[in-house]
Formats: sequence, C-alpha cells, structure tokens
Amino acid sequence: MNETVAGPKGLPLSGNILAFRRDTLQFIRDAAKEYGDVAHFRFGPKRHIYMLNNPDQIKEVLVTKQAHFRKAKGLQVARAVVGDGILTSEGKKHMRQRRLMQPAFHRDRIAGYGDVMVRQGVELMSEWKDGEVLDIHHDMMKVTLAIITETMFGKTVKEGSDKIAHAIDVGLKYVSSKATSFIDIPLSVPTRSNREFIESSEVLDKTIYALIEERRKSGESGHTDLLAMLLAARDEDDGQGMTDEQVRDEVMTIFVAGHETTANTMSWIFYLLATHPEAEQKLHDELKAVLDGRLPTVEDLPKLSYANLIVQETLRLYPAAWVINREVVEEVEIGGHTYEPGDTLMMSQYVMHRMEKYYDDPDAFRPERFEGDLLKRIPAYAYFPFGGGPRVCIGNNFALMEAALLLATIAQQYKLRLAEPEKQVEPEPLVTLRPKNGLMMRLEKRGS
Ligand code: HEM
Repeated sequence: MNETVAGPKGLPLSGNILAFRRDTLQFIRDAAKEYGDVAHFRFGPKRHIYMLNNPDQIKEVLVTKQAHFRKAKGLQVARAVVGDGILTSEGKKHMRQRRLMQPAFHRDRIAGYGDVMVRQGVELMSEWKDGEVLDIHHDMMKVTLAIITETMFGKTVKEGSDKIAHAIDVGLKYVSSKATSFIDIPLSVPTRSNREFIESSEVLDKTIYALIEERRKSGESGHTDLLAMLLAARDEDDGQGMTDEQVRDEVMTIFVAGHETTANTMSWIFYLLATHPEAEQKLHDELKAVLDGRLPTVEDLPKLSYANLIVQETLRLYPAAWVINREVVEEVEIGGHTYEPGDTLMMSQYVMHRMEKYYDDPDAFRPERFEGDLLKRIPAYAYFPFGGGPRVCIGNNFALMEAALLLATIAQQYKLRLAEPEKQVEPEPLVTLRPKNGLMMRLEKRGS
C-alpha cells in the first residue's frame, strides 16, 4: 500500500467497494475531481487500487513502463471464459499469439471484410418493420456477432446465435461480478450464478469445438481467415501446432472481445442520434451527398467524414471499454509515487474522456469537436478508447470500420427513436459499458 496517495474514506472492512459498486461511474468521476492525478481506493481489507487520472502517467503504465505490469484481477477472472488467449495471456506467449494473429487485422485484410459488414446490416434490416419497437442493443449484438463469426471463422451463425449471445452475456456478467468482489466462492459451489455460468460455458465450448472440428475434418485449404491461421500456426521452437484447447481460447477471445464492444458503440450511437436531431440531420445530408441511396463500401469511408466523427465522439462519451486495470508485478515509480507488487492501477477512459481540462462542455455530444486538430492538442492518453502500447486493441481498425459502415447502412434506411423518451437511459459499467436494461427503440422507415 502507498500511504502517500489520498482517496475517499471507506468502511472499516469492505473499504470503498460498496460505494464503488453503488454508482461506479459517478464514484470514479468524483474521485478524479477531488483527488487529482491519483486517487486511492481499498476493496476489502487488502486490495489497494490507485486510479490514475493523468494522461502522461497512463502512458507510462501502458507504454513506457508496461513491463512492470500484468493484466489485473478482472482479466484474470476472465480466463474462466476466454481461457489463456491473446487477451489474457502474458509475456512470451502473448507476444507469440499477437504476432500470429496480427495479419488477420491488417488494414488491407480488413478492407475485404467491408462487404460482409454491410451485407449483415442489410440482412438485419430485412427483419425490421416500420413502426416496430425493439431492443436495439439486442439487434446490435446479433449483427456484430454475425459479422465477427463470418469474417474471422468463415461461418454464418443463423440458428443458435441467440443462444451463443446469451451464453456470452452470462459469462461476462459472471466475470464482472467476480472482478469487483472480495469474497471468492469457488466454481464448485452450486450457487445459481455458478450453475448458470457452467451451463453457458458448455454452450460456448460445444459451438466452438464444433467449428474447429468441422474445419479440421474438411481439410479445406482455401480459407484465409483467422481460424485458418490459427490451425496452420506452428511454434517457432518445436514446430508443434496449437492444440484444440488453445485454438478454442483464441476463438472464444475474438468472439467475446470482438462483438460486444462494437455492439455497445452502435447502441450508444443510435441513442445519441435519437437525442440530437441536428447531428442526425447532418449525417443524413452527408449520406445523401456521398451515397445517394446506394450501399456504402470501404472506399466511401474517407468521404463519410461526419459518420466517422460520430463514431469518435460516441467512443469518447460512452467508451465501450470504460476502464483498463493493471497489476504491479515489479516495484515501479509513477508520478512520484512508488507502487508495489500486488497493487492495482486503474485507468478509466470514461473519466479521462469527460475531463473539462481537455474537452469543452465535456458531457455534450458534439461530433464536430474532433474536426481539426483536437487530438494533436490534447495529450495522447486523454483519448484512448482502444488502450495503448503492446496490448492496444488488435481490432481497433476493424471496429472503426464496422461502426461507420453499419451506421451508414442503417441510417440511410431507418431513423431510430427512443420508445420511452421520458425514461433515462443509463450506462451500466460491466466488463463493457452498455445501456442498462437494453435500449428500446421505435423503427421509423425513412422516406415513408
Ligand atoms: C469499439 C469497439 C472496441 C473497443 C472500444 C475495444 C477496446 C479495447 C481495449 C481498450 C483493449 C485493451 C485492453 C487492455 O489493455 O487491457 C482491447 C484489447 C483487445 N481487443 Fe478490442 N475493442 C473493440 C473492438 C474489438 C474488435 C472488433 C476486436 C476483434 C475483432 C477486438 C479484439 C481485441 C483483442 C484480441 C484485444 C487484446 C489485445 C492484446 O492484449 O494483445 N476488439 N480492446
């Protein structure tokens, strides 16, 4: 523990955990305002968390001094879902897997995924009817799951996609409740949440092992997707391929990391457009000028500048990854404070992205703020929706492209309106930042 860092007073045994859990986003924003560059929290008797609110210090943790850290408890708990894949592994293993998977996310490669993204958007809308009210968050999860499955694993999941999405949901909820709890109930104790978690893991395992087996059996060599890369990979030292379990961990990681984040971003985009008609009108004008009714392609993206600004601004206000945690493994000095092995450093995009110091009227949705040189004027880690350093999001370009293309595809045909405008839509900070209880919206066909 570092005695020199101040923070909100907690309860004797549980420390700050109850206040943190009660209203996490408000709690961390208030702490940043009150304590400045760094605030100390205690979760339970022994866990010390230091929240860094200074972009240069965040850069030190993620980039310059990253070797002193590993991913923190939350992600270690995530191993229960995603195993030891690229998101959760450390050191040499992480570097090897990252090198292996990187080509699947190369700019040139992902450009080829654009038509899948647009087509899946069109397919989703083929099920929509003018005037219908639905949970748009559910539909965004469905479409992003379909996109990640088709682009990465060469497969479409029509039947069973709801089951998979539900199983991932249960898994993520389990992980986030474990990550902020200081009582460890082993998985072998048959509590309701443990049973649900085990069941959902079985659903996911079954789906993924079937995918792997099918591809191994078919012996087809024509595939160039991520699954093909994983199955063809050979270790540099011993020439061994990956076991089914290793491939399963990577596939599961991409399933989980690669769809819910983008789905959240899409939900927030539609929420913000519904509540900011002037921004929506500007988008419609741009879509008319650039596309004039035809479907968008990757080549159109540079011209869809307002659509891109909307994505950027949405990731500022509602960053799907709202926090990054790291655990100290080797004593390290940051901003004049020394942290010891076992300490957790917390860095929140939600907090940093809403700081008055860097953004005028920080809570306002103003896509135009990113026009010009804002990102050059503010420190690098005052805006970091995709993290940074060697563990920066591998899917960042994929996600930006997917969000802009889905937005252009859907907004050309539909306006989405809040079904219950008087009801407050609240962000829920689980593993990702999602609209609490979904997002009920009414579909309005444009031009009708
Ligand atoms: C708007 C959408 C997305 C956001 C906001 C986002 C955010 C992030 C962030 C902040 C990290 C770093 C976590 C850390 O340092 O602890 C990360 C890592 C990662 N993301 Fe994303 N992500 C998004 C979409 C995607 C997509 C579409 C994919 C895959 C297709 C993906 C795959 C990954 C993977 C595999 C990692 C782990 C990288 C590593 O540790 O080497 N993400 N993401």
